[in-house]
Amino acid sequence: MTNDTSNKMWGGRFAAGPDAIMEAINASIGYDQRMAAQDIQGSRAHAAMLAAQGIITDSDAEAIREGLLTVLSEIENGDFPFSAALEDIHMNVESRLKEIIGEPAGRLHTGRSRNDQVATDFRLWVRDQTDAAISGLEALMKALLGQAEAGADWVMPGFTHLQTAQPVTWGHHMMAYVEMFSRDMSRFQDARKRMNESPLGAAALAGTSFPLDRDATAAALGFDRPMANSLDAVSDRDFALEFLGASSICAMHLSRMAEELVIWSSAQFRFVALSDRFSTGSSIMPQKKNPDAAELIRAKIGRIFGANTALIMVMKGLPLAYSKDMQEDKEQVFDAADNLMLALAAMTGMVGDMTANTESLEAAASSGFSTATDLADWCVRELNMPFRDAHHVTGTLVGMAEAKGIDLPELTLADMQSVHAEITEAVFDVLGVHNSVASRTSYGGTAPAQVRAQIAAWKAKLS
Ligand code: ARG
Repeated sequence: MTNDTSNKMWGGRFAAGPDAIMEAINASIGYDQRMAAQDIQGSRAHAAMLAAQGIITDSDAEAIREGLLTVLSEIENGDFPFSAALEDIHMNVESRLKEIIGEPAGRLHTGRSRNDQVATDFRLWVRDQTDAAISGLEALMKALLGQAEAGADWVMPGFTHLQTAQPVTWGHHMMAYVEMFSRDMSRFQDARKRMNESPLGAAALAGTSFPLDRDATAAALGFDRPMANSLDAVSDRDFALEFLGASSICAMHLSRMAEELVIWSSAQFRFVALSDRFSTGSSIMPQKKNPDAAELIRAKIGRIFGANTALIMVMKGLPLAYSKDMQEDKEQVFDAADNLMLALAAMTGMVGDMTANTESLEAAASSGFSTATDLADWCVRELNMPFRDAHHVTGTLVGMAEAKGIDLPELTLADMQSVHAEITEAVFDVLGVHNSVASRTSYGGTAPAQVRAQIAAWKAKLS
């Protein structure tokens, strides 16, 4: 005996409806309506399969199909009456379907549970976002390639400990990020392969006695195959965790690049100018042009890694199979995905627009005794000194230059020979930054020839 206030979908054994607080804690419709398209896609595949298997009639399947299309257009047009009493997207859609087509709607849930339904919807949603991350990364890599190509031989300081280390090329620095973002891309590609199996047909947890064709629904939804264990299918959210893990690493990479742009665009560095399109002003200081987009990208790792932590804590220690805890999976992933896509797009825009200040870059590359290693290497090569001795000679010369307030190339040959008598005039050739970078031709090194080869290889891969 149901009463009027008990739930229309599952209220058969209930005499009263839920407390308002119960409804508030239980409802997910406020956010899982974002999976409406996936829910309807899954239901259409399920209904078509039920008819093909003779479990429901063709006319019922046709009514369901048309009704679901009506529901979808209502949702897309923003005039769908979402109801918290109906908890989630699954019951909201089914209940509206019933209002539109009547009795056949009640046959849609045959051989299915919300447990396999939500697992299917969420996989489809995360798969779409995985594809979006892959395209976003591709666009960013192309923007970086554009910068690398323009400045394959511009020199800039390479840093370790944020102290001048050795001159590198602008193209080399840009291509370092291309490599990092390409690994991010391959993490998403790997995760996609593993997630692309269909939970649909696992039903509540144990499978079903109806003669479902799980291969057919899997194929209709673009999955490679049905998941092989129904308990696993409704229980795990590791696909979402892999998405968040890949997103976290990608956001970490974005934060490092963002930090460099913040430093580089400062008045103290002046390595790059960010475009007006990706900068903001100050309400009090008229001279300011702030790198807000870079700062916000730098911060996004906070919420994205937070989502990763939150979801792995939700899943930790849950017994099989489905538990309602798992409803807490979605908001984390939605927020992380939204912010990752935004950060990728903003970084792509900033990188595409920014202009390098080649004079500042070169001046900075030439300061800070950046070619000291070249000097030591020259002593090893030309004077056959052990590297440790060459290191010591060079260190002495750096100390001498520092005391005189000059840089290495400004020392005289006499200065050099006062430290080591066999040094010749030829040493000055390796002290210039252009010669320095051109000499680093080892595979993966900073020489423009190496960088151009890497650019060509990546352009071929991405085209
Ligand atoms: N809204 C639920 C969720 O997101 C759907 C699954 C409900 N299943 C259940 N057995 N109550 O997890």
